[in-house]
Amino acid sequence: MPTLERLTEAQALALLPQLVTLLQDAVNDGASIGFLRPLSADIAQRFWHGVISDVNQGSRLLLILRDGSMVVGSIQLGLCLKPNGLHRAEVQKLLVHTSARRQGHARLLMSAIESEARAAGRTLLYLDTEPDQPAEALYRKLGWSVAGAIPDYACTPDGRLHLTVIFFKKLTP
Ligand SMILES: CC(C)(COP(=O)(O)OP(=O)(O)OC[C@H]1O[C@@H](n2cnc3c(N)ncnc32)[C@H](O)[C@@H]1OP(=O)(O)O)[C@@H](O)C(=O)NCCC(=O)NCCS
Repeated sequence: MPTLERLTEAQALALLPQLVTLLQDAVNDGASIGFLRPLSADIAQRFWHGVISDVNQGSRLLLILRDGSMVVGSIQLGLCLKPNGLHRAEVQKLLVHTSARRQGHARLLMSAIESEARAAGRTLLYLDTEPDQPAEALYRKLGWSVAGAIPDYACTPDGRLHLTVIFFKKLTP
């Protein structure tokens, strides 16, 4: 079974090549998560450097699932730092490698990020996703509610504009 880890800046930097591979795998497989395909290692690396910088500054948590030397999954929590939003956080970039899907890894990562959010005093979580994809079914199954949907909000990795659904979940402390 893969192990769940919350990464520090140094740990994330040491795993940068594996994180790049994980992101490229998801985008090149068609996931609409902010990038066009084919996703270059250079662009993926720049993305992860931004994430790692946020981790260092305390505005983001990064959890991974590691199987030996391979990172098979990851999830992030963007912590709102505004004085009136210290109770909320955004769940971002839930990724499970194509070779490790349908084994409950996403469910585990979602549960772990909820625990981290509670521990950080965050009681309102939100996220956005492309409808009619595996992630949408997952969020509904885990008790998330739909706040609404925005037409043509983002592009698929092939450049097709699509609807984006906004989910939220209130956490009991
Ligand atoms: C979405 C994703 C994270 C799911 O990861 P996973 O580890 O395969 O998911 P799990 O095995 O934990 O599945 C949990 C539940 O999610 C739903 N689900 C997962 N994959 C599904 C699929 N291909 N089709 C339909 N439902 C699916 C099911 O309800 C599943 O429960 P079940 O196995 O009891 O039926 C993975 O497909 C992925 O990385 N996709 C690309 C990136 C992405 O779209 N991320 C979300 C961004 S918002």
